[in-house]
Order: sequence, then C-alpha cells, then structure tokens
Amino acid sequence: MIKNILAIETSCDDTSVALVTSDGCVIKMVSANQDLVHHPFGGIVPEIASRNHTISLLPLIDEIMKNRSWSDIDGIAVTSRPGLIGSLLVGVVTAKCLALTLKKPLIGVNHIEGHLIAPFLKDEKYNPPDDFQFPYIGLAISGGHTALFLAKSVGEYNLLGKTLDDAAGEAFDKFAKMVGLGYPGGVQVDQYAKQGQSDRFHFPKALMKEGNLNFSFSGLKTSALTLISSMSKDELKKSIFDLCASYQKAIVEVLITKLEWACRAYGLRRAVITGGVSANSLVRKEGYQWAERTQTQLLVPPIRYCTDNAAMIGLIGIWKINKGEQSDQTLTPSARSLSSDFINV
Ligand code: KG4
Ligand code: ZN
Repeated sequence: MIKNILAIETSCDDTSVALVTSDGCVIKMVSANQDLVHHPFGGIVPEIASRNHTISLLPLIDEIMKNRSWSDIDGIAVTSRPGLIGSLLVGVVTAKCLALTLKKPLIGVNHIEGHLIAPFLKDEKYNPPDDFQFPYIGLAISGGHTALFLAKSVGEYNLLGKTLDDAAGEAFDKFAKMVGLGYPGGVQVDQYAKQGQSDRFHFPKALMKEGNLNFSFSGLKTSALTLISSMSKDELKKSIFDLCASYQKAIVEVLITKLEWACRAYGLRRAVITGGVSANSLVRKEGYQWAERTQTQLLVPPIRYCTDNAAMIGLIGIWKINKGEQSDQTLTPSARSLSSDFINV
C-alpha cells in the first residue's frame, strides 16, 4: 500500500499538480490557468493549450517539491484520457519520465472518473461527511462532458446518460460568445444572470420525457442564436441580464431534473454534482433545494475540486494503485474514454 501520490492533470487548458494521500488529504495543489491566453479566441485553441502546459508543468512540479525529497513520493498519477490529445501528451510523457527515473509506480487515469470521486477530497477548509459513500448518482458537468453515472465502487461506474451533442459548459461558453461575453463564458453568464429575470425568455428544453437520461443542448443554442440575431445591438444590451438568467435557468432545470430522475430510477438518495459547471450558483442553489425536498444527501465539491484539478486525479490514482492496478511505460494518451472505463446501460 502506498501512502501518497504526485498527480498531474493537463487534459484541457488547466495545468495542475497535487500531492494527495490515500485518505483523500490534499497536502498541496498548485495550478496554472490559461483563461487569459484563450480569451481573445472565444474558446480553447488546442495547440496553444499544449504549448502552455509545456511552459507551466515543470515549474509547478518544482513548486510542489519545494522542501520535499523525491524519496517522500510513493507514486505518480496522470490523466491519460479523455481530453485534448496534445495537452494530455504533455502530462503523460512527464509522468512516465518521472516514474521511470524515480522507479515509482505509475497510473494513468480517466479524467471523468476523477471528477466523480472529487467530493472525497479533503483539506483544512473542506471535509466531506463521514457517512458519504458508494453507491451514488454522479452528475458530471463540464466544458467537455455532461453525463450521469451510477457510481458503484472505485472503478465501477454505469453510464446512465450523456449529452448527444454539446456539453453543458460548452452551451454556456457558446452562448457567452454569441452575446459578446468572452471566454470562459460560464462564469460571466452566471454573474450576469444574477441581475436578470429568468422568466422573460423561454428557451427549449430537450429530451424531457421522464426516464430519458440523455442530454441535448444544441436546440437551446440554436434558439438563443435565432433570438439574439433578431435583436438590435441596443435591444441586446438592454436584455443581456434577462437573456443570461433565462438561458441559465433552462440549462439548470434540465440538469437537476435528470439528476432527480436518475436517483428515482435507481432508488438512491445519495448524489454528487461535479465538473466545472457545478461552480454555477444556480446549479448549487437548485441542487441543494432539490436535495432538501427529496431528502437526498447531495455533495458538491468546493470550486477548486469541481474545475479541472490534479487532486482528484491523485485520489483515484492512489486508490487504483492500492487496489493492485498500475500502468507501464506503454501508457499512451487517448482523446476518448476507453470502452472498459464505464459500463453502458
Ligand atoms: O471541468 P472544467 O474546469 O473543464 C473541463 O473538463 O471542461 O469545466 C470548464 C467549464 C467551462 O465550460 C466553463 O464555462 C464552465 O465549466 N463553468 C461554468 C461556471 N464556472 C465554470 N459554467 C457555468 N457557471 C459557472 N459559474
Ligand atoms: Zn473536467
């Protein structure tokens, strides 16, 4: 059994390194954000993202290792899938070099699995309740993925539903671009929505027949585009807060309703909302209200463990190594999850 692990996350545009113990304690985490670099493009430019990982990663590892010796590190975990291939490559190559030269166990892990177990992380400011455990329903919502899982145990997840087109975060980001709020759009839409009326505009909600746990946000996006294109610049300026509030409400209602359906279908009163979009203030508000109404134990990790971070990769990595799993030097990044990562139901 190993006691701690150094973890690397470079699947998208955040570079993150963490040192985590097997009981979920985040000893230290340092991250570099690329939002300003991608802002002028209104979205992530993959080539720029991977180049920035090469600049940030080694200094972040140095920072984690400040006043520490490599002999104190028991293993290396890295996100190996899914994600932007160039970005993943930077983390995977670095992790393999470290594991090889330091003769430490290596584990490549699925990024979404990291999001699903993020609520188990702890630090001096956050401690999950002791009675929270598997099985639970996990709603993973971020810029690259939107899916519902039945998390049964470490490494055992049933995929209950997923987006058929855009991810929830993508729907936020594309809308923000349409109304001129820049990248990353989710946070901006969230801020603007706080000052608007959410019942002024009606946006369509797709696949809303009970039991359908898939998502689709492309119709919502098209409807927003049609509406915005019909507005003059002045009208758009006057309506921006209400537009953001109404659009956000449509997304959040779909997310929370499907989480409720999944819990009901599997008879579970334990749930997790995770991924970058779980930072959204309405997701949190509606989520906790639903949990109270239905007496469901809902965990939404603090924002630092909701958005992309290395701590969640470290925790799932150390659990897997302690279960007997390991990767070797043939580990290669993959843009997609492996068919063995999740069980389709
Ligand atoms: O998990 P994450 O950091 O990266 C991916 O794996 O994609 O999620 C990033 C996504 C972006 O689309 C961003 O706009 C969205 O999370 N996001 C939000 C908020 N904060 C981040 N969306 C809505 N409201 C927020 N407050
Ligand atoms: Zn993510």
